[in-house]
Amino acid sequence: MATIPRKDTVRVGLIGAGRIAQVHAAAYQRIARGEIVVVTDPVIAAAERMSTEHGYALSPTFQDILADDSIDAVLLATPNFLHAEQTIQALEAGKHVFCQKPIALTLEDANRVVDAANASDRHLQFGFMLRFTPPLPQLQARLANNELGSLIAAQAAVFGWEPSNEWFYDPKNGGGVILDTLVHFGDLVLWLFGPADRVTTEGGAYKLEGAKKFGSPDNAVVTVRHRSGVISSMYVSWTAGRGNFTLDVFGNDGSATVDLVHSQALNLHIADKSRDDVGWQYPDLLWDYGYAGEQQYFVDRILGREDGSRVGSAGDARDALALMLAAQRSLDDGHTVELAS
Ligand SMILES: NC(=O)c1ccc[n+]([C@@H]2O[C@H](COP(=O)([O-])OP(=O)(O)OC[C@H]3O[C@@H](n4cnc5c(N)ncnc54)[C@H](O)[C@@H]3O)[C@@H](O)[C@H]2O)c1
Repeated sequence: MATIPRKDTVRVGLIGAGRIAQVHAAAYQRIARGEIVVVTDPVIAAAERMSTEHGYALSPTFQDILADDSIDAVLLATPNFLHAEQTIQALEAGKHVFCQKPIALTLEDANRVVDAANASDRHLQFGFMLRFTPPLPQLQARLANNELGSLIAAQAAVFGWEPSNEWFYDPKNGGGVILDTLVHFGDLVLWLFGPADRVTTEGGAYKLEGAKKFGSPDNAVVTVRHRSGVISSMYVSWTAGRGNFTLDVFGNDGSATVDLVHSQALNLHIADKSRDDVGWQYPDLLWDYGYAGEQQYFVDRILGREDGSRVGSAGDARDALALMLAAQRSLDDGHTVELAS
């Protein structure tokens, strides 16, 4: 890899001004040595709102940001169907890229991204913030250190944000709850337990009109058999929410439990839609979901202060997508899907 010039501050262009862009903007308030300086979104009002709130410059298009030599990196906070093409274009324009998950919506596109990453000397990182969310890195280190002995099984319950836009449900644009949201946990279980052998999924469109319209699930249970023998079972929901995220891991010599909504927090769901504070409320939660950690790491890696060992490669992001595509196919076809070794 070519030497990357060291600068004092990484200047980032934010691509997309929707819901996750707000989370990234908040995270950058805590980032050293990196700043978002410009935003673009075809929905002008959305870009203008972020520009006003955060003092970012406005750019008419993604291409204008790519052509601007003063921008070091782009943060892709755009719908899933754009990720592969925008990542490839940005790498080819010489930008470092932070791309939200998933890497793409098809394996062919994911492979094109992997090829572009391999041909580039720029850094490419994906939005798998769970690798930065306490206590998951600590758990990963303990499992790698064999502290629970030989691992047997894991179970997770995952409550994803209800989609803000219809594209999330569309298999061609968002991919549905498995490709869009469970992919975080696809990456997590591959990181914790190694490559997968086969996957079985049950689920359906239980509640959300968008899911019913596009025939994609809003709730699913995905069971993965890893090559190591570990069985991981994951419940993912866009509608329910038993807590926010829980993970139990069982081994021959012990077990571990993670509950990202810390036990001391009031965990309250308000269904009364006439109130302002409907939905899940965590008034006293210590809210560290890894969003600042992943951006600090991205910036410091560009500056040569981190070696990249804490994040997955483009190939790892492709493997997480491959697992989720297999999980979706299992649901669609009604049988277990074997993964290529
Ligand atoms: N890591 C997480 O926890 C997390 C959470 C939510 C969403 N996401 C991911 O973030 C991405 C965006 O999700 P969201 O919830 O913000 O969606 P959103 O629909 O709220 O926002 C997407 C924005 O991208 C804009 N956009 C569309 N085409 C564009 C283009 N060519 N150039 C620039 N902007 C463009 C849209 O106008 C919209 O404002 C998705 O990939 C999603 O999977 C990640």
